[in-house]
Amino acid sequence: MLNWIESRTGFISMAKDFLVEDIPGGASYWYVFGSATVFAMILQIVTGIFLTFFYAPSANTAWESTAWIYTHFWPHLILSIHYWGASAMIALVFLHLLQVLVWGAYKSPRELQWVVGVILLLVTLVLGLTGYLLPWDMNAYFASQVSLNITSTAPIVGPMIQQIAQGGGAMGTETINRFFGLHVWLMPAVMVLLVGAHLAIFRWNGPAGPIAEDPRKLKNGRFWPDQMFMDGFASLIIFAIIVALAFISPPFLDAKADPTKFFIPYPAWYFLSLFGLLNIVPPSLDLLATIVVPTLFLLVVIAIPWLDRSTTRSLSARGGIIGGTVVALVAIIGLSIYSQVSIQAKQAAGPPSPTEAQVLAMANAPSAAAPAAPASASAPGSAAAGNPLVAAGATVYASNCAGCHAANGMGQPGAIPPLAGNPFVTGDPHAVIGVLLDGKNGAITVNGAAFNGQMPAWKGTLSNKDIAAVISFIRGGLGPNKASAVTEAEVAAYKP
Ligand code: HEC
Repeated sequence: MLNWIESRTGFISMAKDFLVEDIPGGASYWYVFGSATVFAMILQIVTGIFLTFFYAPSANTAWESTAWIYTHFWPHLILSIHYWGASAMIALVFLHLLQVLVWGAYKSPRELQWVVGVILLLVTLVLGLTGYLLPWDMNAYFASQVSLNITSTAPIVGPMIQQIAQGGGAMGTETINRFFGLHVWLMPAVMVLLVGAHLAIFRWNGPAGPIAEDPRKLKNGRFWPDQMFMDGFASLIIFAIIVALAFISPPFLDAKADPTKFFIPYPAWYFLSLFGLLNIVPPSLDLLATIVVPTLFLLVVIAIPWLDRSTTRSLSARGGIIGGTVVALVAIIGLSIYSQVSIQAKQAAGPPSPTEAQVLAMANAPSAAAPAAPASASAPGSAAAGNPLVAAGATVYASNCAGCHAANGMGQPGAIPPLAGNPFVTGDPHAVIGVLLDGKNGAITVNGAAFNGQMPAWKGTLSNKDIAAVISFIRGGLGPNKASAVTEAEVAAYKP
């Protein structure tokens, strides 16, 4: 069998070649960072594919489908693994790069491997950035708005890139679609190709091995079985840590994105230093912090193999590079801490956000947005579900009302009254029509809870037909509500 495959493909000898690869100085746990990064990447691809089975990218469904994922065990676990896997991957790419830097493994003939590696770090960061938007909660929205604003300040191409990424005048479904496309396929495809190139170059040059004045004196080890075992073992440990973190500290889902509310966003930890830099400089120097410094920094990092052209890899002879690395690390860590402290202070001063339990309660009732389209919000089995008005009303509701009253009609504790299980909604249809047409403002009590806010008037914004449909839906298709439908004629005939 193996012979048969070998004679037709050459795969077996290829695999053997790979496995008997020489490791200068023998196998070592120092060499696991690269393979561990590849492991994290595969974990991200697998969990990411699984998440696309549940996630629906649009302004009306992104948050709802994410909330659905949060309330179901396996999808939620996969999401949490994906979340921690992303952090692990960025940390591993970073450690890998740092090690290559300190060990001088970027030196000739490995310059291109270094350059591809740095680009891979960038691709990983773009993946982190684009993934951050997808839950479409308050934090996702406002943090992504900051990054889009920063993009638009870049000279010449900035506004264009920002327009393309955002898709239109305001952040919405198009933005989610662009970020989703970048996140689930363009960036992963680029990444897999670059990893292929990175590994092919690696195979061509062989491992750099430990720092030694005379590498010829090192005895060689083999990739198989020692290094293979160490790589596998390291990946296993990392997997165990990711799963443990996924259980102990799953990600947090904020309330659904609402541009009209005030929110202090918190960036992903790997962007904290950039946020810090932006906060520390006076506004007139913003461009310096957002574009100039990061770009220069990146160019210097890419150019390191050409800046440090000596052939020695010993630490003591490379004081400039080592010193520069330490300074950069101290700056990055310092800025991150500064950023963390200042964001926390601002958040503490701002209005409190709802807890996750409150957030999920908005999406957690039986008729909560399933990952499917909003029209399915008219739960099967409800009395009026057969009425086409109710089905049409579900769509009107999803795009006009769910933002405030929540997809499942639970409202928002202390702020927006619930519509599901609300006797006013299922009571006199005439009164409900009045609220929809003219809005409502003033103190009300629903099931013992007090609310005092402003419900917009929909006369002029929605057609009589849409108003009849949405009333029919909230009366007969939302949560436990089972009251009669309302016709377009009744809405047209309404007199206060
Ligand atoms: C901007 C947020 C917002 C939007 C959007 C919104 N509502 Fe409201 N709605 C409210 C608030 C706030 C109240 C409570 C008003 C008060 O306190 O007097 C309310 C009250 C109501 C009430 C009366 C509830 C009661 O017990 O008196 C109904 C019915 C209602 N909304 C239906 C809808 C429908 C249907 C839509 C979509 C067409 C909608 N709302 C869109 C904020 C909103």
